[in-house]
Amino acid sequence: MRFPLLPLASVAFAARPFLNEPDTGIDEALGAIANGTLPDLDSLVGLPDFEWAARRKMNTSSYTYYRNGAAGEWSYRNNLEVFQRFRLRPRVMVDITNIESTLPTTILGHDFSAPFFISPCARAGYAHPDAELNLVKGAAAGNILYMPALYATKSVEEIAAAKGNSSQVLFQQVYLTENDTETLQLFSRIEATGSKAIILTVDSAADGNRHRAKRYGVGSADSSYSYLTWNLYHKLSNMTSLPIIPKGIQTVDDARLAVQNGVKAFMISNHGGRQLDTTPSSLEVALEIHNEAPEIFKQVEVYADGGVRYGADVLKLLALGVRAVGVGRPFMFSNVYGVDGVKRVIEMLKHEVAIDAANLGVGDLKKIGPQYVNWKSTNVWFS
Ligand SMILES: Cc1cc2nc3c(=O)[nH]c(=O)nc-3n(C[C@H](O)[C@H](O)[C@H](O)COP(=O)(O)O)c2cc1C
Ligand SMILES: *[C@@H]1O[C@H](CO)[C@@H](O)[C@H](O)[C@H]1NC(C)=O
Ligand SMILES: *[C@@H]1O[C@H](CO)[C@@H](O)[C@H](O)[C@H]1NC(C)=O
Ligand SMILES: *[C@@H]1O[C@H](CO)[C@@H](O)[C@H](O)[C@H]1NC(C)=O
Ligand SMILES: *[C@@H]1O[C@H](CO)[C@@H](O)[C@H](O)[C@H]1NC(C)=O
Repeated sequence: MRFPLLPLASVAFAARPFLNEPDTGIDEALGAIANGTLPDLDSLVGLPDFEWAARRKMNTSSYTYYRNGAAGEWSYRNNLEVFQRFRLRPRVMVDITNIESTLPTTILGHDFSAPFFISPCARAGYAHPDAELNLVKGAAAGNILYMPALYATKSVEEIAAAKGNSSQVLFQQVYLTENDTETLQLFSRIEATGSKAIILTVDSAADGNRHRAKRYGVGSADSSYSYLTWNLYHKLSNMTSLPIIPKGIQTVDDARLAVQNGVKAFMISNHGGRQLDTTPSSLEVALEIHNEAPEIFKQVEVYADGGVRYGADVLKLLALGVRAVGVGRPFMFSNVYGVDGVKRVIEMLKHEVAIDAANLGVGDLKKIGPQYVNWKSTNVWFS
C-alpha cells in the first residue's frame, strides 16, 4: 500500500515551481523573435513582459544586475509571490463607473495622476544609453513621481535638466558618506535642482550579499558599512530644508520610531529583496503595522515597494493604508524601449489599477480599506 501512495504524495507536496514571470503565454506568442531583438512594444500586455523582453536585449551581466536578489533570493521570490497568498473580497453591485477619476493623489502635498511611483534604481544606463533621462521624461508624460537614485548613470543635474517642465516633482534618493562637508555639498546640489524631498535609504547599512550578481562582477553599489542612526537623521534634517524620507522600514517597531523621530513620511521596503535575504515583503510589514499600530497610516504618509507587478498588488497595499506604491525593476526593464517603454508601463499599471479596483467593487480609490482583502494568508506554497 505504501508504494503506490508515494508518487501521489510527492505530487501533493511538491513545491510549486517559482515563476519569475508567471506563464501567460508570452513564449508561445513571441518566443520565435530572435534573441537580441525586441518584440513590438504593442505586443507586450503587462509589466512582467518587460523583463522577458529585456532579457533578450540586454547582455547577461546587465540583465543580472537588475534581476538580482540577495543570497538564495527567498525575499526576492516572496516579494513577488506574497500577493497571491491573500485573496481579495470583491463586492458586487457597486457603482464603479467613476473609478478612473479617483486615481490622482497627492504625495507629500504634490499632485500626481496615480498612487504609484518609480522607485530609485541605480544604473539605468545598462538598459539604454539615455539611461535615467527616459525615466524622468516618462514620469513627466504620465504625471507620476520619479525618485532618481544617487548611483545613477546620469548625474543629479543631468536628470533634473531633463524634467518635462519646471514644476515636475522629483524626490532624490541618497547614500551618504561620513563626511559632513560632502553631505552638505550633496544636499545643496539636490536643493539647487529643485528636488522636493530626499529619500534616505536605511536598509543598506552593509553591502548586500548578492550571489547571482557576484558571478558577473555587478554586485552592490554601496559597499561600506554605513553609520545610520536616528541621531544622524536629526543631524541630516538640520542640514537641509527638504524633508528626509527613510526608505527601507521593515518592522512596526521602526515604523513607530520613524513617527517618534518626526518623519513626514517613510517607505516600507526590503530593497527589492536585494539586501538581506528572508526579510519580509512590504505587504507583510504593512500588515504588521495595520495589526499593531494602524494609527501610523494616519500620522504620516507611508509608501511601500517590492514585487508590485499588477493592479491588484497596488490595491492590496493601498487597502492597508499605504499612500503610494513604488515599482522598480519593471521600469528599469521597460527602458530597453526608451521613454516609450516607461510611458507604456505607466499606462498599463494605471489601467490595471482602475479595472481591478472596479472589479473589486471599489468606486472611489480613496475609500479602499482592509475589508477588501481576506488577511488570513492562504499560504498556497503547495499545489
Ligand atoms: C537594479 C536596481 C537598482 C537599485 N538601486 C537602488 C538604489 O540605488 N537605492 C535604493 O534605495 N534602492 C535601490 N533599489 C531598490 C528599489 O528602490 C526598490 O526598492 C525595488 O526595486 C522594489 O522592488 P521591485 O524591483 O520588485 O519593484 C534598486 C533596485 C534595482 C532592481
Ligand atoms: C534566446 O535565449 C534564451 C536564453 O539563452 C534561450 O532559452 C532561447 O531559446 C533563445 N531564443 C531564441 C529564439 O533563440
Ligand atoms: C553589457 O552592457 C553594458 C551596458 O551596455 C556594458 O557597459 C557592458 O560592458 C556589457 N558587458 C558585457 C560583458 O558585454
Ligand atoms: C571631506 O570632504 C571634503 C570635500 O570633498 C574634503 O575636502 C575633506 O578633505 C574631507 N574630509 C575628510 C576628513 O576626509
Ligand atoms: C541644528 O542647527 C542649529 C543651527 O545651525 C544648531 O544650533 C543645532 O545644534 C543643530 N542641531 C542638531 C541636532 O544638529
